[in-house]
Amino acid sequence: MKKHVALVGFMGAGKTTAAQKLGAPTLASDDRTPIELFEQGEEAFRAHETAVIEELVQAPPSVLDLGGGAVTVPRVRELLKEHATVVWLDVDVDTCWQRAQGTDRPLAHDEAAFRRLYDERRALYEEVADVRARDVHDVALAAAGVVVENGALQKLGSYVDGPVALVTDPNVGGIHGMDAQLALGSKLTATHELPAGEEAKTLTALDRLWQTLRLDRQGTLVALGGGCTTDAAGFAAATYLRGIDWLPVPTSLVAQVDAAIGGKTAIDLPQGKNLVGAFHWPARVVVDPLLLDTLPVRERQEGMAEVVKTGLLLGENVWEPLDVRRCAAFKSAICLRDPHDDGERKQLNLGHTFAHALEAAARYEGVTHGRAVALGLKAALKLSGRDTAVVDELLKPKPVKVDRELAWQAMQRDKKNVGGELRLVLLGDDGPQWDVPVPRDDVRAALDELIAG
Ligand SMILES: NC(=O)c1ccc[n+]([C@@H]2O[C@H](COP(=O)([O-])OP(=O)(O)OC[C@H]3O[C@@H](n4cnc5c(N)ncnc54)[C@H](O)[C@@H]3O)[C@@H](O)[C@H]2O)c1
Ligand SMILES: [Zn+2]
Repeated sequence: MKKHVALVGFMGAGKTTAAQKLGAPTLASDDRTPIELFEQGEEAFRAHETAVIEELVQAPPSVLDLGGGAVTVPRVRELLKEHATVVWLDVDVDTCWQRAQGTDRPLAHDEAAFRRLYDERRALYEEVADVRARDVHDVALAAAGVVVENGALQKLGSYVDGPVALVTDPNVGGIHGMDAQLALGSKLTATHELPAGEEAKTLTALDRLWQTLRLDRQGTLVALGGGCTTDAAGFAAATYLRGIDWLPVPTSLVAQVDAAIGGKTAIDLPQGKNLVGAFHWPARVVVDPLLLDTLPVRERQEGMAEVVKTGLLLGENVWEPLDVRRCAAFKSAICLRDPHDDGERKQLNLGHTFAHALEAAARYEGVTHGRAVALGLKAALKLSGRDTAVVDELLKPKPVKVDRELAWQAMQRDKKNVGGELRLVLLGDDGPQWDVPVPRDDVRAALDELIAG
């Protein structure tokens, strides 16, 4: 995070719950402003609260959980404007009242007064808000800098400042490039093309892009395309001039729910995929689900494998109807809590150890990642003692023809293994678990079932 994320909203909107869910370091103005001060009058309370906020904004970027009335003070509004991205948790008054009544909050005793105050405060929240959030998922997206909105592409220009270079691939550029250029208007200085598909993630393609980029440090690289475009362009942004801002506009389902979120960027080596890369958190991510309308069916199916993975981890149906916002929020929250993949981010590898082994055994030809993930999810569910119906129905995993020994070798080489034991992500009764040691024979048997012939 470059700036604080300040949560504002009425009493009972759920600011504290949302802040806790983010798991990011949180500074709460309420905790440090004794409620007893209210007995000396609201003015004394606000003065103390303002002093606390003056102090909080000087700390390194974190989530600021602000008291509901803090924004009534002009100085606080000024501080927020300067130091924070302000997220307004906009929840209806009935819900707020249900949550706040009967608590010790001094302004939540009289329902009529509560409702009046709600109406008064709305205008102030609206004035300070950079983002309006309806629930915790919106808050996670806002904190990660992710916008999910139908038609967002048309407003692309409003999400960047300064000069922009647009990077896209021929397929996506041919369909949506013009809209992106129009939306960027005079901010656009040049458009660059990367090859479509995995070819973008090569040193040759990167070299060409580095050499043609003309942005200075104030510039922003906008990457319009699928996960290959966002991975490669993101890596270019991470390295060019030792790092410039970048903004992915993911256009494939894989990229909208997965690749463009979380700040991992990479290119491939002949020795393997994603072997050279960097963590480089985007300045913004602009997700326009309407762009998926032009996505070929087989590419949509690739993305569905990651959507089903997300739903299994969440324990919620996010596939029917497809909920891009919920999937993107899930990945955002996990990556905010574990940006460098040291802990819970590992759960995103559900089914992936098997998938990578199958892809490697096929030498990355003929077995798509989505098909391999579908098989991997089935194996992970079986080893977790779970029913595989969801995966069977939605992803229809079909065993692949690859060399069994090659796949088994690749499985054992996986970088997540420690010593001789195989460690996998499994679904336990209380949700996902990672680094679970699994007996080798069980893993081998599960892998064998995924291979045809
Ligand atoms: N960085 C991460 O965290 C992360 C996570 C998951 C996957 N990835 C990477 O993402 C890559 C796969 O991404 P992908 O599946 O999006 O591949 P991709 O970028 O190759 O896109 C798939 C195909 O669909 C086309 N396309 C994309 N959007 C379209 C649209 N709206 N209309 C018409 N055509 C469209 C593309 O031109 C391409 O031909 C892999 O290299 C993988 O390693 C990265
Ligand atoms: Zn994947």
